[in-house]
Parts: sequence; structure tokens; C-alpha cells
Amino acid sequence: MAERMELTRPVFFVGFMGAGKTSVARRLARTCGVASVDMDTYIERREGKKVKEIFAEGGEEGFRAIETDVLRELGAKPDPLLISCGGGVVVTPANHDVFREAGFVVYLEVTADEAASRISDTSTRPLFQNLEAARARCEERLPLYEAVANVRVSTAGKSVPAIAREVQRILEKEGILCPQQR
Ligand code: S3P
Repeated sequence: MAERMELTRPVFFVGFMGAGKTSVARRLARTCGVASVDMDTYIERREGKKVKEIFAEGGEEGFRAIETDVLRELGAKPDPLLISCGGGVVVTPANHDVFREAGFVVYLEVTADEAASRISDTSTRPLFQNLEAARARCEERLPLYEAVANVRVSTAGKSVPAIAREVQRILEKEGILCPQQR
């Protein structure tokens, strides 16, 4: 039975594709009895289309506009959530304001090469089509992830449960994850 805890602020998981944002947020949600939401899944339900189709129809620009809208919406929920963001959430400057104003940002560090070994199906990720381009994109985004991060967690050689435990300890120490009051 999960220990029931609650969040005092929304927690955003950021990092490159394949960092494990969705799996870690889900695992933490399950062990702590709090809710998690994956932004890409939420976007797909809201739009009634796959991310790949949104990119094909409206380009990256169209996708980023929807992403910002959803980030604001999820960050403002009265009951704070664990939110796994898409890897490119940091490229939109307005999203940095949402992070700063509303939440706590956990940056899961991964290299493009490690990410490639974890992603079995790149067909669902329009911006991870070849390793060379992914390496360049990852490099380009590093300073952005670092700029928004409240905390950085290395994922190299660690299992999802181990990373989730590490994040849990950090959130408890920061007073963001607490025993449920109600
Ligand atoms: C993207 C990452 C994807 C998804 C979209 C764009 C990116 O999410 O939002 O394909 O620009 O890095 P994941 O990081 O969950 O794969």
C-alpha cells in the first residue's frame, strides 16, 4: 500500500528524450500516493492526435504553442501534480516563467547516446530521428535545462526505482513532498 503523501507545489521533470521523466514520475506517484501526469499524453488526449501528427500538421511551432498552454494549465491545478514534461519544453522562454512562478524543477541528466540506447521506438519522436542530430540538440539544450533546474539528478547506470527514491529524498528535504495532512 502506497504511503499517502502530498505535494506543496507542482514538480516538473525535465531532461532530454529518454532521460526517464515519465517512468520516474510514475514510479514516484505510485510509491508516494500522489498523482502524476505526462504532458505528451495529456496533449494527445486534449488534441485527439498523436504528437507525431501535431508536428506533421502544425510544425514544431504549432506543437510548442500547445505545450505552453498545457504547461500553464497543469501548473495551476489546485492539487499540485508530478508533471513529466516533453524534452523540448525548455526551448520556449515563456515556459521558464511558469517553472519559476509555480513549481520545482527536477532535471534528469542523460546523454544523447544513453538516451538512444533506452529509446526502442524513435518513430513516435519526430525530433529524435538520427543520433548525430540528437547529440547536437542535446548539447544545445544543456544550458537551458541547467537554467531551469532546481536540482539535477544523474541517471547514468541507475534504475528507475533508484532514481525515484533519490528524487523522493530531495523533495522531502525541500518540504515539497510531505505526509498527507487531510
Ligand atoms: C520533444 C520531446 C518529446 C515530445 C516531442 C518533442 C523534444 O517528449 O514532447 O516529440 O523536443 O525533445 P519526450 O521527451 O517525452 O520524448
